[in-house]
Amino acid sequence: MLSAEDNDLLTRIEHAPMGRMLREYWTPAVRSARLEPGGAPVRVRLFGEDFIAFRGTDGAVGFLAEVCPHRGASLALGRVEECEIRCIYHGWKFRADGQAVETPSEPPERAASLAARVRTTAAATYEAGGIVWVYLGERPQPPAFPGLPFVGLPDDHVRPLAAETSCNWLQAVEGTLDSSHVSILHQSWLDASKGNIAQAAADSSPRYEFDVQEYGVRFAAIRRVADGKAYVRVTEFVMPWTALIATGDEDCMAIIGTPIDDTRSRQWFIRWNSEHPLTEDTDTHAWYEPLTVAPDDFTELLRGKKMWGQDRKAMSAGHFSGIENLVLEDVAIQESQGPIVDRTKERLGASDLAVVRTRRLLLETLRAHTNGSSPRGADIGAALKASSGLAFTVNADVDWRAATEAEMGR
Ligand code: FES
Ligand SMILES: [Fe+2]
Repeated sequence: MLSAEDNDLLTRIEHAPMGRMLREYWTPAVRSARLEPGGAPVRVRLFGEDFIAFRGTDGAVGFLAEVCPHRGASLALGRVEECEIRCIYHGWKFRADGQAVETPSEPPERAASLAARVRTTAAATYEAGGIVWVYLGERPQPPAFPGLPFVGLPDDHVRPLAAETSCNWLQAVEGTLDSSHVSILHQSWLDASKGNIAQAAADSSPRYEFDVQEYGVRFAAIRRVADGKAYVRVTEFVMPWTALIATGDEDCMAIIGTPIDDTRSRQWFIRWNSEHPLTEDTDTHAWYEPLTVAPDDFTELLRGKKMWGQDRKAMSAGHFSGIENLVLEDVAIQESQGPIVDRTKERLGASDLAVVRTRRLLLETLRAHTNGSSPRGADIGAALKASSGLAFTVNADVDWRAATEAEMGR
C-alpha cells in the first residue's frame, strides 16, 4: 500500500518530478523501420508532449516538437527536404537539431537573422534494437547509451513491437516484474510451452529474493519443483522502466513501459537472439507472431472488442483466461486496473515483493534527483552488465546468486 502522495509522485509524469527524472534516461520512441529516408514524419507522443520523428536523406533521424514555433502548424505535415524539415504553412525550415535555417515568409534582409534566433525543441537520438531512442532531459549533452544486451546486434537478430495501452506507465512496469502471475494468468500458455518456462506452473507462490544493483535490481523468483529442485527465474530491472525477462527458450526479451502521458503508456517488447537470426521455432516467436500485424500498436487487435476479446466459450473448454495471447493477457489486465491504480487501496502480500521493492527504488531515486543527484543508472553507459534474464533449474540448496553468475559466465 502506498500513500496517495507517493502514488501521485510515482505515476504522474506531466509537469511533475517523475517526468523530469524519467527524461534523464534514453527513451524508446519509434520503430526505426517506420522512418524512411526522406519519408513522411511520424507523430510520437511522449511524456505528455507531441513530437515528430523524421529521417533525412542522409539516414540521420530528427526528433522535434510537433508544433512549428512560428504559429503552431503541425510539422507532421512538413516536407522532409534532404536532412531538414520545412513547415508547409509559411515555409520555415529546421535542422534535426532544432535550429531554424530558413524563414522565407520574412523580408530577405530580416530572414537570416530571424532564423538564427529561432530554435525548436529537439532531442538527441540513438538507434538500437530496431528502435529510435531519444534523450529529452535537461543536460546539454546526452548520457552515453546504456549497454543493454541487444545493442549492436544485426537487424535480423532483433525485433521490436510496441503497444499503446490506456493505463499509466507504472502498471506496465509492475506487470513485467511480477513473476507470480505467470503461473496463474498465463497458465494455459505455460501448458502449451515447449521451453523451461513450463515449470513455472508447478508453484504459483514463488519465493522472491533480490539484490539492488547500480543499474536497478536483480530479482530471483524461486519455485519449488519436483525432485527437491528449484526453478529460478532471474528478472533484471534496469532503471527506470526496463525488465529483462527469461523466456525459457533461446530468445531473449526486454519489456519497457514508457509514459505517453499520465494515463497512457507505450510498451516495448524487444525480442532478440544474440547468436543467430530470429527463427520461427521458439516460444517467444509464438507469443509475438500474431501481434506483428500491428507492430507499432498491437492493442489495435483488442479495440472494439468486448472485455478485451475474452472468450468465455474457450474458458468453458479449459482455457484459463479466455484471452488468446500471453502478451494480450498482460495488456488486458493492466488496462483493467484503470487509468491509474489507486495504490492506497491495495492488499499486498509476499508475492508482491518485486513490485514493492521497485516502487521504493523509484521513490528513493526520485527524491535524490529532486535534490540534485543524477538518477540511478542514467549514466551507466557501457558499464551496464545485467544478464538478459535467466531461467534455470538447480538443486534447492544451491545459491541462486552463484548460479546466476555461473550462467552469465557461460
Ligand atoms: S506556422 Fe510553420 S512556418 Fe508558419
Ligand atoms: Fe504477464
